[in-house]
Amino acid sequence: PGRKGRGGGEGRSGPVRLAIIGGTGVYDPEILDDVREETVVTPYGRATVRIGKFRGLEVVFLARHGAGHTVPPHKINYRANIYALAALGVRRVIATAAVGSLRQAFGPGHFVLVDQFLDFTKNRVSTFFEGGEAGVVHIDVTEPYCPEIRSHLEAAGKALGLPVTNGGVYVCTEGPRFETPAEIRMFERLGGDLVGMTSVPEVVLAREAGLCYATIAMVTNYAAGISGQPLTHEEVLEIMAANGTNLRRLILEALPR
Ligand code: HPA
Repeated sequence: PGRKGRGGGEGRSGPVRLAIIGGTGVYDPEILDDVREETVVTPYGRATVRIGKFRGLEVVFLARHGAGHTVPPHKINYRANIYALAALGVRRVIATAAVGSLRQAFGPGHFVLVDQFLDFTKNRVSTFFEGGEAGVVHIDVTEPYCPEIRSHLEAAGKALGLPVTNGGVYVCTEGPRFETPAEIRMFERLGGDLVGMTSVPEVVLAREAGLCYATIAMVTNYAAGISGQPLTHEEVLEIMAANGTNLRRLILEALPR
């Protein structure tokens, strides 16, 4: 999408659409009015979204792991999801992501507006361009995460007095297991700040589709070996739930008025 006439968005009339991709702990488009569900059929499979209104703005909500968190990170149909958003006319995306922290300064509840990634995924198709008709395309990822949306979110964080840092390196692992402490030490030496399982290939596909895409990473735990205790998915869900209101406030404050 976005290149060579694939996907949608261009030339579509009406309000510029924004999408929110809800990660772990963010499953409901609670903030939206007049919500309707839509299933988009894409060349990669179906993607179900909910579309509603916020301050007159049409917003598309997509639960990355499915409405009941049934899809693990390595099984997410990233291509169908991003293709569907582009086909719906979405131009801007705010994604949320629960992450482990490699930095003492980023404790649980801290929001990081990711600006770079390190890709440690193993078995994911991370392009729309597989040769043939689609062509051979090497997308530029000098600035993978939209600086414009990030600066809106940064300003929103300041206005609300929330702990927000603009800039951080997201290490994406294959999962679904958490990391070993040795892996975390390695990631730390390589320049990683946060660890999660979903930003790649989501951000890459969004770039290929020509979308302006940003990720709000919310720290749910210190990474393995730093925390000193075994990690659990329940702990991640608990911290997400405890800070869900702040996450929602941050997004709402950043949206156009
Ligand atoms: N590792 C990987 N993914 C995560 C973590 C973590 O520690 N916390 C939340 N998502």
